[in-house]
Amino acid sequence: MRNSRLMAATAAAAVLALGLTACSGDDSEGSGDDSTMSEGDGGGEVEVFTWWAAGSEKAGLDALVGVFDEQNPDYTFVNGAVAGGAGSAAKDLLQSRLQAGDPPDTFQAHAGAELQDYIDAAQIEDVSDLYDEFGLTEAFPSDLVDRLSTEDGAIYSVPSNIHRANVVWANPTVLEDAGLDPEAEYADMDAWFEALDAVEESGKTALSIATTWTQVHLLETVLLSDLGAEAYNGLWDGSTDWEGAEVTAALEDFEKLMGYTNTDRDGLDWPDATQQVIDGQAAFNVMGDWAEAAFQEAGSEAPGDYIYFPVPGTDGTFDFLADSFTMPVGAPNPDGTKAWLETVGSAEGQEAFNKAKGSIPARTDADTSDFSEYQQTAVESFANDTIVSSLAHGAAAPVATLNSISDATSKFTTGASDLATFQSELAAANM
Ligand code: GAL
Repeated sequence: MRNSRLMAATAAAAVLALGLTACSGDDSEGSGDDSTMSEGDGGGEVEVFTWWAAGSEKAGLDALVGVFDEQNPDYTFVNGAVAGGAGSAAKDLLQSRLQAGDPPDTFQAHAGAELQDYIDAAQIEDVSDLYDEFGLTEAFPSDLVDRLSTEDGAIYSVPSNIHRANVVWANPTVLEDAGLDPEAEYADMDAWFEALDAVEESGKTALSIATTWTQVHLLETVLLSDLGAEAYNGLWDGSTDWEGAEVTAALEDFEKLMGYTNTDRDGLDWPDATQQVIDGQAAFNVMGDWAEAAFQEAGSEAPGDYIYFPVPGTDGTFDFLADSFTMPVGAPNPDGTKAWLETVGSAEGQEAFNKAKGSIPARTDADTSDFSEYQQTAVESFANDTIVSSLAHGAAAPVATLNSISDATSKFTTGASDLATFQSELAAANM
């Protein structure tokens, strides 16, 4: 079904792109292989809005900006980053700016349901003509283009990367000190609980975690583990009952997992929680593979300093999310936006950015031979495993649904609601 929709979308995009090129009457220089020549060549400032404000995330952004500067000497990158993991602060601020008619030149948005929010609100432009101009349709996996497209074939952003959300990062020394074998594999949550008990007995934090969005991130991986990929997908298309017994069992596991976490969690963001594993204060951390960049930045090497494995019970599944960049309606410097999107979509941009970010390139032709060992496993998994959509990172559910789920999760983990209330609030969020 998806494929036939995709083929229709691709054909429509091609037609649309031809139409736009014919009408626009500019850029008559054609394809111009010379990547240092910016189309439009208007120059000026290009404000890029992200939440990659610090640490390894900023290092990823810096790597992309390095390529942008090289490819577009006439333009000046302006960093509009707003701190807060997963866009926890950025998204609200962005929404106020968009509603006030003050958009940046481009902003970061997740492929999937979150992007649809901006499309529905008519806040971003169709960039399918750029796909044609930059040769992007063939460069990205068709499934991904589908997640960036509307039914009628319009394409609304250029993806910069693909992240995997269902990863456990662990400190092998802490495991050994707790009498555990760092090479042990945990088939499901029950097997993992035994290891978590052992770490707790050793006096270390068993599972490090941070503020609400990281708890929602953990929740999605528990749902995936306990329900399996098909029923997990059913949570987003209405075919799995949020009020059902299997969801109750998963929420019980989530509650149990939260019992192994650090109590100062609500004041922390993801880098702090991952750092606890790097520093040997905690054994395990469930985090997307932007954590790989944090381990690399700390000079850690796998498998001596850290290990990683799919969240128990999710082996064979790739919990997917992708960042992408948009052309906002009313962007002050559209030629600058176009230049940024060209860099984001280029093989050079994707290689530099993803190597530093822990993710893998969205382009299938990018050279990943010098990427880290972990990243090679992600390339492998993305190519061969079942792909499901991340909740916490905009792929599975619209922003309003995610916000309601986040509120319900925070109430539950701070003791303001019980499990039955939590479950019914999750069900209500998905109505
Ligand atoms: C995700 C985003 C990643 C990473 C992470 C933590 O939503 O897609 O690129 O930045 O948040 O902030």
